[in-house]
Amino acid sequence: MSTRPFAIVTGASSGIGFELAKCCAAAGYDLLIAADEPAIGGAAATLRKAGCTVEAVEADLATVEGVDALYAAIKGRKVDALLANAGRGLGHAFLDQDFGKARRVIDTNVTGTVYLIHKVGNDMRRLDAGRILITGSIAGFTPGSFQAVYNGTKAFLNSFSFAIREELKDTRVSVTCLMPGATETEFFQRADMMDTKVGTADKDDAATVAKIGFDAMINGEGDVVAGLKNKVQSAVASITPSGMLASQHRKMAEPGSAKT
Ligand SMILES: NC(=O)c1ccc[n+]([C@@H]2O[C@H](COP(=O)([O-])OP(=O)(O)OC[C@H]3O[C@@H](n4cnc5c(N)ncnc54)[C@H](OP(=O)(O)O)[C@@H]3O)[C@@H](O)[C@H]2O)c1
Repeated sequence: MSTRPFAIVTGASSGIGFELAKCCAAAGYDLLIAADEPAIGGAAATLRKAGCTVEAVEADLATVEGVDALYAAIKGRKVDALLANAGRGLGHAFLDQDFGKARRVIDTNVTGTVYLIHKVGNDMRRLDAGRILITGSIAGFTPGSFQAVYNGTKAFLNSFSFAIREELKDTRVSVTCLMPGATETEFFQRADMMDTKVGTADKDDAATVAKIGFDAMINGEGDVVAGLKNKVQSAVASITPSGMLASQHRKMAEPGSAKT
């Protein structure tokens, strides 16, 4: 049996999650990684080059069955770190969105994430050890016109993370929320937002963002906003009226805003 620490990273096939998994591999963790599509197998092959053991699970974490399949793959091992990162966005005005796609955002970002944390978190509390990293977002500070459901899910996660951190404060289980700003990944393409200002703007580097989140998790910090620009933006958001924030968000996220 391996004596190396063991981490689970969800949404590890691309973007921030893949970079988080690389951070874990570099720090000596064995890995169980998950995503919805077969690309997770290729990510596992790349990560194995760092010398760690990597198991890949292809599962839809928007569903109870998918989360159960990932949990079953733990096979009773002690989980030293859970990096709950899988998530998806969705652009366009809420009433113009396909409701099935909007619901999938909620089911992935909120329900699946919370269900997985409930299962693994209980095991960690029983052993009085573990680290949980949740990928929230600075989007959670802003009512996201033309990305309304997504921003709502991230507001949920930012809040949820601090709440359960407080509940666990007398244990050795830490909960950290990584709040990235716009980051260069496949996110905006998948969210059908490539005709928006935010979709086409320069973005933060996913590896840098992941390292900031990983270090915060290791240090047991409550939250970390990745990058100075995003720190300023989120501080300003905290004292700006919600109506004004929603109006500003339109300029970034409304379809066609890339051209203005
Ligand atoms: N990029 C940004 O600007 C930004 C900013 C703040 C926060 N975030 C957050 O960062 C996290 C990672 O996103 P990213 O930017 O790295 O985007 P990404 O490159 O699109 O990666 C998303 C990952 O989540 C997985 N995923 C999505 N839905 C899933 C489902 N139902 N079941 C299993 N896996 C699923 C994807 O796997 P499949 O391809 O297999 O579905 C992929 O591995 C998300 O939580 C996102 O909300 C991103």
